[in-house]
Amino acid sequence: MFKEKGFHASALCSLLFLIGLVGVIGDEQKKFYIVYLGDHPVDKDHATQTHNHLLSSVKGSEDDVKESKVHSYHYNFNAFAAKLSGDEAQKLASMDQVLYVIPNQYHKLDTTRSWDFVGLPQIAQRNLVTERDIVVGLLDSGITPQSKSFKDDGFGPPPKKWKGSCGHFANFSGCNNKLIGAKYFKLDGVPDPADILSPVDISGHGTHTSSTLAGNVVPNASLYGLANGTARGAVPSARVAMYKVCWVSSGCSDMDILAAFDAAAHDGVDVISISIGGGFENYTTGSISIGAFHAMKKGIITVASAGNNGPSVSSVSNHAPWILTVAASGIDRDFRNDVHLGNGRNITGYGVSTFNTGKVLYPLISGADAAGSNSTKEDAAYCTEGSLDPAKVKGRLVYCKLDEASAGSESVVKGIGGVGAIIESGQFLDFEVSKIFMAPGTIVNDTIGEFVNEYTKSTKTPSAVIHRTHETKRAPAPFVPLFSSRGPNPGSLHILKPDIAAPGVNILAAFTPLRSLTGLKGDTQFSDFTLLSGTSMACPHIAGVAAYVKSFHPAWSPAAIKSAILTTAKPMSQRVNEEGEFAFGAGQVNPTGAVNPGLVYDMDEMSYIQFLCKEGYSGSSLPVLVGPQPINCSKIVPGLGSDALNYPTMQLSLKNKQGPTIGVFQRSVTNVGQAISIYNATIIAPRGVEITVEPMTLSFTSVLQKRSFKVVVKAQPTTSMVSAGSLVWKSSRHSVRSPIVIYNPQD
Ligand SMILES: *[C@@H]1O[C@H](CO)[C@@H](O)[C@H](O)[C@H]1NC(C)=O
Ligand SMILES: *[C@@H]1O[C@H](CO)[C@@H](O)[C@H](O)[C@H]1NC(C)=O
Ligand SMILES: *[C@@H]1O[C@H](CO)[C@@H](O)[C@H](O)[C@H]1NC(C)=O
Ligand SMILES: *[C@@H]1O[C@H](CO)[C@@H](O)[C@H](O)[C@H]1NC(C)=O
Ligand SMILES: *[C@@H]1O[C@H](CO)[C@@H](O)[C@H](O)[C@H]1NC(C)=O
Ligand SMILES: *[C@@H]1O[C@H](CO)[C@@H](O)[C@H](O)[C@H]1NC(C)=O
Ligand SMILES: *[C@@H]1O[C@H](CO)[C@@H](O)[C@H](O)[C@H]1NC(C)=O
Ligand SMILES: *[C@@H]1O[C@H](CO)[C@@H](O)[C@H](O)[C@H]1NC(C)=O
Ligand SMILES: *[C@@H]1O[C@H](CO)[C@@H](O)[C@H](O)[C@H]1NC(C)=O
Repeated sequence: MFKEKGFHASALCSLLFLIGLVGVIGDEQKKFYIVYLGDHPVDKDHATQTHNHLLSSVKGSEDDVKESKVHSYHYNFNAFAAKLSGDEAQKLASMDQVLYVIPNQYHKLDTTRSWDFVGLPQIAQRNLVTERDIVVGLLDSGITPQSKSFKDDGFGPPPKKWKGSCGHFANFSGCNNKLIGAKYFKLDGVPDPADILSPVDISGHGTHTSSTLAGNVVPNASLYGLANGTARGAVPSARVAMYKVCWVSSGCSDMDILAAFDAAAHDGVDVISISIGGGFENYTTGSISIGAFHAMKKGIITVASAGNNGPSVSSVSNHAPWILTVAASGIDRDFRNDVHLGNGRNITGYGVSTFNTGKVLYPLISGADAAGSNSTKEDAAYCTEGSLDPAKVKGRLVYCKLDEASAGSESVVKGIGGVGAIIESGQFLDFEVSKIFMAPGTIVNDTIGEFVNEYTKSTKTPSAVIHRTHETKRAPAPFVPLFSSRGPNPGSLHILKPDIAAPGVNILAAFTPLRSLTGLKGDTQFSDFTLLSGTSMACPHIAGVAAYVKSFHPAWSPAAIKSAILTTAKPMSQRVNEEGEFAFGAGQVNPTGAVNPGLVYDMDEMSYIQFLCKEGYSGSSLPVLVGPQPINCSKIVPGLGSDALNYPTMQLSLKNKQGPTIGVFQRSVTNVGQAISIYNATIIAPRGVEITVEPMTLSFTSVLQKRSFKVVVKAQPTTSMVSAGSLVWKSSRHSVRSPIVIYNPQD
């Protein structure tokens, strides 16, 4: 229906889908679009002129142009954002200079112990001179400048290369020599009643991710004494730049994300960390994919969260091959609380209840028995808002079934004069991630819930007390929690995603003083540090390791850094994690190993273009990534092998239900270890799969020497969705491991 290079079907769907969600009042039918003109970075004046000229051909007057355009992107790519009607957008899309017009969408934001757990102790060897010159950029919800994690005691002035800035903003105490950049982006201009036009962090998310990545060493950090220890980022001496693109009510928009990528790459960051859920757009239309490609061209590695949409298959997002995509793993720590019942029996629940309730027993009532006159027993059993009779709840603990839609039963109970709640849940997820309660609370499973229920019926005066939460060990660890998004990669059957796993469950890191721990009405708990969970928390762990690796090897390309992190990861157990590599990628990160990988699988811009051509991308969509000369895929020498990319992991998708499927992987490794070294191949093949490597030995005589080899995988049809073997290049000092994943599409 539209021109080939213009709109695409999914853009139209999302257009229809989004109307009403994002429309601006009084501006009926107009919404924001990003108009892409291709890659050639142009100077600011020239860009603005071109953009205005194009816009004026669909708008009446110069005033209309001014009113419509909200941003010209010009540092790293050529595009503008404007408010347009559907007709105007379509007209622009049909113009020769215009590649495509994409509707702006809104995305969602998807440690003490964690660093020791993955093996980056505080005493780890560091290259401090270089680490001080590393700047990490985060695209997130803002930052808390006064946090101890970002004080600048002992820091000299920013590195000379730094071009970023930090102005004076509302409710923002300002930057220093640790926090050297802070900007915000809110191009839709729609005020957010719950947020402030300033890089200040209202939600706590950006403060948390920043401190995990590069926060100072802060001793005696804890959440009300829980998870106590020394909080620190991976690279405590590195500098931090915050690009606020996520807003409490509206989320994180494509226009703002692109502007932040453009600014960060221009300012001179070394690593970009983005814990924002990507869409399922293809590689040449997603804002995070496009932004990360341009960053990569400048030598900046982008690390992104895999998403919290697990465990369903193919739920991984931010899956472009030039992005380092991070799954979450759980560590060996858990939070439990003991509940003492009036009959002398003790039970154990899950979650974080910071309240010291003492030894007093409180009267206990079942929600179903506390129904208000206007509600059913059924509703009251779930303690839904308005279902309980305040007179029956006052001064009591209430036993409730989990209400998925509610922020918390303990909050409902507390809100009408009760003490707290024992909450029964049948959802495994509730036992993986510790929920923080705003009043005394605990989550128990069905068995224990039924036990409590029986007890309330067994006596006229049931009573109980929920004790303060304590830490326990948890096994087996590491594990991939259910929420972490799973592969296979929806964008390409040839590239394994997620790439790697890092801690993302119950991570302690810095928090904002502007929000209570739960953000719920009546919550009086505030803390400089708190526990959060999500692939959002895993992402800055890997961004931090990337910065750590870069501090030892400032000249390494983003692909070399990724390779070092992937080939040194510790494989995780498929017994614990059913989806295997589709859950954890190459495995659990091994920070100190990544500094010294021996060999790296390197890639440059052209490698990705060859890959995209092979994947069916055409000349009409590629200029959004490369330019100024258009790419003609039929003239590009195709990349070798099945996947056409020198990726550090390998994935073969079974095509044949009867006979074997054969995949050929052409790879080349660069020696970054000792000049003279010999590597032998070790192959592990799963059942029904033959793997051969040619040659089986690689000899190097100098540093940066490259050696090529070929891996042939012959896989018989299997029943399981995923199985994996590996290729390990072993020298006397190094072990360079690539998982080889066999994907059996289930149809
Ligand atoms: C990606 O999306 C763009 C824009 O709709 C389209 O032109 C291109 O063909 C798509 N590429 C692939 C490989 O799907
Ligand atoms: C932000 O600053 C304004 C003006 O100084 C003040 O009125 C407001 O309370 C502040 N908001 C927060 C959340 O600190
Ligand atoms: C550590 O923190 C706790 C709680 O925040 C505080 O009570 C204690 O005094 C602190 N200890 C030290 C040595 O600073
Ligand atoms: C945490 O606190 C406990 C009790 O106050 C103390 O024994 C322990 O040493 C602390 N742990 C760390 C890592 O500081
Ligand atoms: C339950 O815990 C209390 C301490 O809170 C303890 O005194 C009591 O012995 C325990 N009861 C049982 C049956 O283990
Ligand atoms: C139902 O009745 C209770 C009092 O029993 C009251 O607090 C609550 O607001 C009422 N809810 C609705 C929805 O009318
Ligand atoms: C509930 O937890 C108890 C104690 O941890 C355990 O023995 C029981 O098997 C669990 N029940 C279910 C349904 O998970
Ligand atoms: C791309 O190159 C092929 C082969 O050289 C040629 O036939 C074709 O016309 C070119 N396409 C464009 C759009 O230039
Ligand atoms: C590699 O294989 C060769 C020949 O099989 C052997 O001599 C050598 O010791 C092996 N090297 C390593 C590091 O395993």
